[in-house]
Amino acid sequence: MRFTGFIPLLFLSLIAGCAARPIYPLPSKNADGKKQPLQTSRPYNIAHRGSNGEIPEETAAAYMRAIEEGADFIETDILSSKDGVLICFHDVTLDDTTDVAEHKEFANRKRTYEVQGVNTTGFFSVDFSLKELKKLRVKQRYSFRDQQYNGKFSIITFEEFIAIALDASRVVGIYPEIKNPVLINQHVKWAGGKKFEDKFMETLNKYGYRGSYMSEDWLKQPIFIQSFAPTSLVYISNMTDSPKIFLIDDITIPTQDTNQSYWEITSDAYLDYINDYVIGIGPWKDTVVPVINNYLQTPTDLVARAHAHDLQVHPYTYRNENLFLHFNFHQDEYEEYDYWINKIGVDGLFTDFTGSLHHFQELSSPLSLDQSDENSKASKLLHKIASLVSSYGKV
Ligand SMILES: *[C@@H]1O[C@H](CO)[C@@H](O)[C@H](O)[C@H]1NC(C)=O
Ligand SMILES: *[C@@H]1O[C@H](CO)[C@@H](O)[C@H](O)[C@H]1NC(C)=O
Ligand SMILES: *[C@@H]1O[C@H](CO)[C@@H](O)[C@H](O)[C@H]1NC(C)=O
Repeated sequence: MRFTGFIPLLFLSLIAGCAARPIYPLPSKNADGKKQPLQTSRPYNIAHRGSNGEIPEETAAAYMRAIEEGADFIETDILSSKDGVLICFHDVTLDDTTDVAEHKEFANRKRTYEVQGVNTTGFFSVDFSLKELKKLRVKQRYSFRDQQYNGKFSIITFEEFIAIALDASRVVGIYPEIKNPVLINQHVKWAGGKKFEDKFMETLNKYGYRGSYMSEDWLKQPIFIQSFAPTSLVYISNMTDSPKIFLIDDITIPTQDTNQSYWEITSDAYLDYINDYVIGIGPWKDTVVPVINNYLQTPTDLVARAHAHDLQVHPYTYRNENLFLHFNFHQDEYEEYDYWINKIGVDGLFTDFTGSLHHFQELSSPLSLDQSDENSKASKLLHKIASLVSSYGKV
């Protein structure tokens, strides 16, 4: 049976909804001043560009919201300003998610550059100093999402992003991407012939990110470094033992640096090779389970083969809106999370809706609770009910 145990979960989520948020313990400092550690017993909740389903992507507000909602990791894309300051921003152009078009002083900054083999026209972040970028305001990417925060928040730097994670009252990991390194290294020059990847590593070193996966250092300041460019991951492998994730794009898109096809980079031979440098892969989810006419097809063996190579799998991107949910999930994002976690067996999920994934996981695989705050009793009771109902569901 496909989604056993799911209906009781939906039922419980309705109860939980009526009782409002505080039923689940939100991030909080432990009484002894030690930070509540990263949970490592269930797939990671990776807040894709922050809680960008609610608040414009990659802003401080989106990241703080994600932390409040229970993110294990906050995820970001690192690009550079013209003057070599690393920033958190997804697109190489500013057009779709800022108000740059309204700034007359920048009207002459529009350029056309070749980006991954495609001539792209727009306002490129690499043509703006940090001071200029800070004059812009970020807006929501999708018109069907909440527009009330448009124009309220600015672009943040990599260092400002790190500060948000380190200031959190519990341990929150970071998940930065070395984004478009080919383009950045073409357009931005640093003193002493340093490359984008060198500056990226300098920043992480400055804030003490180090240590192999699950080491004491790592658990204090958890991090996954991600990139679609395998040469960047290989290049930094001599500079850090922090765990790295190799991102894998749609099957039609070759790697930006080595021009290798999807089939090449997902072959057993390649997984053998990349295994020396990374701890896992981050594939687009529709390559793991192909989709035709918005219906899931038979899953590929990518997850099984990655696991056989001891590689974690963190697919992207989970988005709750009907528009993004394949019909198999009956317009219910909990069914999608259930399928990927319990049937496909992934190790982490990039989601636009961290709060939703957190609620699902608290219902289906609650963390052991030893907090002594007043939320705890209600939580324990709910978890007890959840386990009773889900074991009933299995009969
Ligand atoms: C991009 O435009 C330039 C200048 O017009 C041209 O020489 C080049 O071939 C174009 N590249 C692609 C990938 O279309
Ligand atoms: C890393 O260091 C080792 C030993 O010094 C060297 O053999 C290897 O080529 C280096 N790898 C990279 C990617 O620089
Ligand atoms: C990338 O590989 C494809 C297919 O092998 C080839 O047609 C194309 O010319 C290559 N592009 C570059 C920039 O090397």
